[in-house]
Amino acid sequence: MSDLVEALLSRMSLAEKVGQLNHLAASADSTGAGAAATDIESRIRRGEVGSMAGGLDLERLKALQRIAVAESANKIPLIFAIDVIHGHRTIFPLPLGLACSWDFSLIKDTARAAALEATAAGITLAWAPMLDVSRDARWGRCAESAGEDPLLGAMLGRAMVEGYQQDDLARPDSMMATAKHFAGYGFAEGGRDYNAVDASAYRMHNVVLPPFKAAIDAGVGAVMVGFHDLAGIPCTAHHELLHDLLRERWGFDGLIVSDYTAILELVHHGVAADTKEAAMLAFNAGVDIDLVSECYVRHLPELVAEGRIAEAAIDRACRRVLRAKERLGLFSDPYRRLDAAHRDRVTLTTETRRLARKAAAKSCVLLKNNRVLPLARRTSIALIGPLADSRANMQGTWAVAARADDSVTLLEGLRAAVGENHILYAKGANIVDNANVAARLNVFGEICAIDARAPADMRAEAVALARRADVVVACVGEAREHTGESSTRSELGLPGSQPDLLRALRATGKPLVVVTMSGRPLALEWEDANADAILHCWFGGTETGNAIADVLFGEVNPSGKLAMSFPRGAGQCPIHYAEAPTGRPIDKIGVDAHGDDENANGRHVFRKFTTACRLEGPHTPLYAFGHGLSYSTFEYGALILDKTKLSGEHDVLHASIELHNAGPYAGEEIVQLYLGDPVASRSRPVRALKAFRKISLQPGQSQRVDFAITVNDLKFFRAERLSSPEPIWEPGIFIVEIGRSSDKLAAARVEWHVKK
Ligand code: BGC
Repeated sequence: MSDLVEALLSRMSLAEKVGQLNHLAASADSTGAGAAATDIESRIRRGEVGSMAGGLDLERLKALQRIAVAESANKIPLIFAIDVIHGHRTIFPLPLGLACSWDFSLIKDTARAAALEATAAGITLAWAPMLDVSRDARWGRCAESAGEDPLLGAMLGRAMVEGYQQDDLARPDSMMATAKHFAGYGFAEGGRDYNAVDASAYRMHNVVLPPFKAAIDAGVGAVMVGFHDLAGIPCTAHHELLHDLLRERWGFDGLIVSDYTAILELVHHGVAADTKEAAMLAFNAGVDIDLVSECYVRHLPELVAEGRIAEAAIDRACRRVLRAKERLGLFSDPYRRLDAAHRDRVTLTTETRRLARKAAAKSCVLLKNNRVLPLARRTSIALIGPLADSRANMQGTWAVAARADDSVTLLEGLRAAVGENHILYAKGANIVDNANVAARLNVFGEICAIDARAPADMRAEAVALARRADVVVACVGEAREHTGESSTRSELGLPGSQPDLLRALRATGKPLVVVTMSGRPLALEWEDANADAILHCWFGGTETGNAIADVLFGEVNPSGKLAMSFPRGAGQCPIHYAEAPTGRPIDKIGVDAHGDDENANGRHVFRKFTTACRLEGPHTPLYAFGHGLSYSTFEYGALILDKTKLSGEHDVLHASIELHNAGPYAGEEIVQLYLGDPVASRSRPVRALKAFRKISLQPGQSQRVDFAITVNDLKFFRAERLSSPEPIWEPGIFIVEIGRSSDKLAAARVEWHVKK
């Protein structure tokens, strides 16, 4: 307990304590809830504001901070918060792209660089990382996530918390991180943003919560609560989730923050009659800070007076806010992050650009390659497509401090790599052709300009250029605001007339390299069947164009692997690799089917069964989780286990495989280890990722890749209740699988029993 905080608390009025729980928008916003954010100065002076949006210019932030520490009664500094999702001014690839690098030390470096820039712009609290496991490509916010797997989510959570906070929040270049959105937001029904989620405690503990637990174990300072309702109870009012689990069970003593206007939205959810009841429900459930809805400042004092909220509880919440400010070093130097000269020195430097270029190249996933890639430098290239030269799109969604002019497009990247003469360029198509859709997507600037020419004329120009070149590189995909908040899609193919453009380019007979950009997995069946190569680049951020050029010309050998399955079409969503086995067909099911190459588990049989029912195409995704090619050819040897019978808690199983680079290029391969638990008290996923190694090999080189498996890897939560789970392991048979992707694995089975 800190003397400073206790001394402050003892002289604060109830209204001032409640003021610390109030987070203000920077200005009145379109929801109307931020309307009270006018007259900011006098509200700060009166002690009605604890924190506020940091997206203002530095001098303004400095002036507001001065009012807080010089003119308010208690002289408590403000926290300035903003979304720092994948970089601040220098933009790194979308989190989903970064996750495809499976390189969490690189991800930590990007978070560190983002913190350096954001803190220099006065930010003390970042609304990130987003840790919502995402299995539905229709949901636009999958772009902000680490994808479908809880292990990758947990690793991203830890890396970003460490990068933002370092081990000392008081350092001037550290900022507090926020794990969001607690919890289950990624499972919105139909992938429709803000929709209800009906997740069992079993799913919550085995899939949804591990990334949050990892962030908390890494010391994350804040948790933001999801907008959605969880089996009928909006998370913002969910006592069992916030109080019983997060506070009591996990012992989290940091800040619990509502999402933007979410307290007010309890009325819309239909669980509160008015904003006063909404304030009471949220506060009593455990939410410390009211983001923008102003329900707390309006109603908490009255609710205390009526005895419906205990003043001691207000003290506890206020103490947490003051404590956070103390940990951030704000009491000793409230201006330490408000220095324009310093900001300009550390922002968008050669180093941050170099890191952005590296991260963007490592996030690319080579989905297909008929040996057309890498390109020779002297090739004449027809670069075609609406994303080939669109700076405004390169940052991807949630890049609040980015400037379009900072980014390098693919056209610029290719020209920088091989000179103007080798590159012919035409736009070829609009991202979307419908003006209303374009207007909706243009909320953050001109990202979807519609050409004055007819789509057919644009195509004709592109085809004419293609005929003159040796190879066509088509840069196609979504607009950056096709993903992000409230951006659901019900179709996952390329929007607008881009498919027509690709067909016309294919018809020229020239080798066709498709470079795709998007914030979600796309449905690319036609492209898979017709293109010579497909390189998926997400939105790579500031250095996108240079990074893709590095990959196309082989300066960087692609090594990314998908962190989210690519479905064949939206009808398959949600789809992910860790599905539970099904009951049918019954002939091949059973423990004995495991380990058999042909039908490694019941699920594969089920897939054939659906095909037999004449559904269109197989049930498998087009590109499975973990898929990603290299210019090298990696050969996997046999799976070797040091034993097949184990006993007791302390036994260790060693599994290994020989990896050989049989190709002509040096490269990196991500070797993946999965475990299956075919007989348990719950129907367990057919396989779950437990570990991986990123191995770097020269041409002709081999390496044995080892994994040590312990009982911890076998554990799961039976989770009868949300708030009282303990992981257990159930002795018996387990399936060990190692390979290059979740659908290309060598399998073996072991028995692991309790020690007699
Ligand atoms: C989003 C949050 C974000 C907040 C503040 C909300 O609409 O759901 O993820 O942190 O706005 O920008």
